[in-house]
Amino acid sequence: MIVRRERPADAAAVRALHRLAFARDPATGVQRDPDDVVEARLVDQLREDAGFLPHLALVAVADDVVVGHVIATRGWVEPVGAPALGLGPLGVLPDVQRSGVGTVLVHALLAVAEAAGESLVALLGDPAYYRGFGFRAATELGISAPDPAWGTHFQARWLTEVRTGGTFRYAAPFDRL
Ligand SMILES: CC(C)(COP(=O)(O)OP(=O)(O)OC[C@H]1O[C@@H](n2cnc3c(N)ncnc32)[C@H](O)[C@@H]1OP(=O)(O)O)[C@@H](O)C(=O)NCCC(=O)NCCS
Repeated sequence: MIVRRERPADAAAVRALHRLAFARDPATGVQRDPDDVVEARLVDQLREDAGFLPHLALVAVADDVVVGHVIATRGWVEPVGAPALGLGPLGVLPDVQRSGVGTVLVHALLAVAEAAGESLVALLGDPAYYRGFGFRAATELGISAPDPAWGTHFQARWLTEVRTGGTFRYAAPFDRL
C-alpha cells in the first residue's frame, strides 16, 4: 500500500469510498441512502473551497484501488483568526477496515501538516480512535467547538509551540452540512 496526494482522477473513487465507509451514520448507526451520505458530498465541496489544501488530501492505494482517504482543510481559531486545520472526513473501505489503513493515513496527514508549519489540527470523531494520535478533548487545549453539543468528540492537537486559544471555525462547506 502507498499513501500519496489525491489527484483529480481519484475524485470518483474517493466519493465512492466515502459512500461505503459512511453508509451508516457514525453518530446514530442508521443506514443511509448512498445519495444522502453527507461526508461524500462534503469532500467534493471542500475541493472547490478556498480552504482546500492539495497537500493535505491523501489517498491510500493498494493494488491500484483507493482504499482510504483523508483530508484536512483550512480552519481558523477565532476571534484572532489564527489559521488551523480541520481534519475530516477520514474513511476506509469497509472490506479493509481494522487493518491499519486509517492509522497510516492519520499519521501521514499529521506529518505533512507539521512539516508545513501548521499549528493546530481539530476534528470531530471518536475519542477512543483519535487519542492514540495525540488528540485530546479540544476544551482541554483551550479550544471551543463550533457547536458545544459535540462535547469530548470535538478534539484537537497542537503541532507547534505557537498556541492561540479560542473557538474553532471550519472551512465554509462544513457550515452547509
Ligand atoms: C474509523 C476508520 C477511519 C478507521 O480506519 P481503519 O483503517 O479501520 O482503522 P485502523 O485499522 O487503523 O485502526 C483500528 C483500530 O482503532 C480502534 N478504534 C477505536 N475506535 C474506532 C472506530 N470508531 N472505528 C474503527 N476503529 C476504532 C479499534 O480498536 C482498532 O483496533 P483493533 O483492530 O486492534 O481493535 C474506518 O473504520 C472507517 O472508515 N469507518 C467508517 C467511517 C468513519 O467512522 N470515519 C471516521 C470519522 S471520525
